[in-house]
Amino acid sequence: MEVIIQPNPSDCAAAGARIIGKLLEAKANAVLGLATGSTPLPLYGELVRMNRAGEVDFSGVTSFNLDEYIGLPGDHPCSYRYFMEQELFKDINIEPGRTHVPDGLADDVGEHCRAYEQAILDCGGIDLQILGLGSDGHIGFNEPGSSLGSRTRIKTLTGETREDNARFFDSIEEVPRHCITMGVATIMECRQIVLFAFGEAKAEIIATAIEGPVSAMVPASALQMHPEVKILLDEAAASRLKQKDYYKEVFAGKPSWQCF
Ligand code: F6R
Repeated sequence: MEVIIQPNPSDCAAAGARIIGKLLEAKANAVLGLATGSTPLPLYGELVRMNRAGEVDFSGVTSFNLDEYIGLPGDHPCSYRYFMEQELFKDINIEPGRTHVPDGLADDVGEHCRAYEQAILDCGGIDLQILGLGSDGHIGFNEPGSSLGSRTRIKTLTGETREDNARFFDSIEEVPRHCITMGVATIMECRQIVLFAFGEAKAEIIATAIEGPVSAMVPASALQMHPEVKILLDEAAASRLKQKDYYKEVFAGKPSWQCF
């Protein structure tokens, strides 16, 4: 697990975009795992800029999003399909048919989830997964208590997550109670993972997830078991890490071949 602390979210986004750029240079048909919410917005902004500047090409890329609310159609302004169209897909040269977001209106949710897992396998697996972090320790919508062996499935959102996400809706009553999410084990199978967290509000849960014990009660802590994880934090989100100075020293002393 590599913890990278940058002065602000834009520097984290630029570093994350360079990691993606490097992957796409080496593998033009890479499979990207994508997230929604506030955290990836600076990253998506930077990817759009790089794509327009001809610095990165998405024409061969396939994408899979982590999650979607059950009950929202893809054209609902609060659905994650809509979010991805607005914040990234419409502004980059990705093939629309190769972008995947779970279907919040699937008739048979169990079958849809199995097909989603199969589609990931059929594309050769996810090369790089982008993650944000919920204030309760969730990744995707794997809420505390989610099995570390879980696959794509229906989950019930916690009250804390519904409150956190109420800012995107007119009222908390409108926030769906159920979602479809990739499982913790689905995420752990991605070849490379980059998790972003920004702001003081994420500092405590970042410290728990990175430096606390691995536990299903903090699903993000499972990332400690993954061999290729980068955690990109601004100073505020890193503020409660015990090993903060050590992480900075490691990053400053990286050999050039490891830099991005
Ligand atoms: C979104 C997702 C969630 C968010 C998390 C943080 O697709 O999977 O895990 O990353 O809830 O949300 P923000 O970034 O809004 O703080």
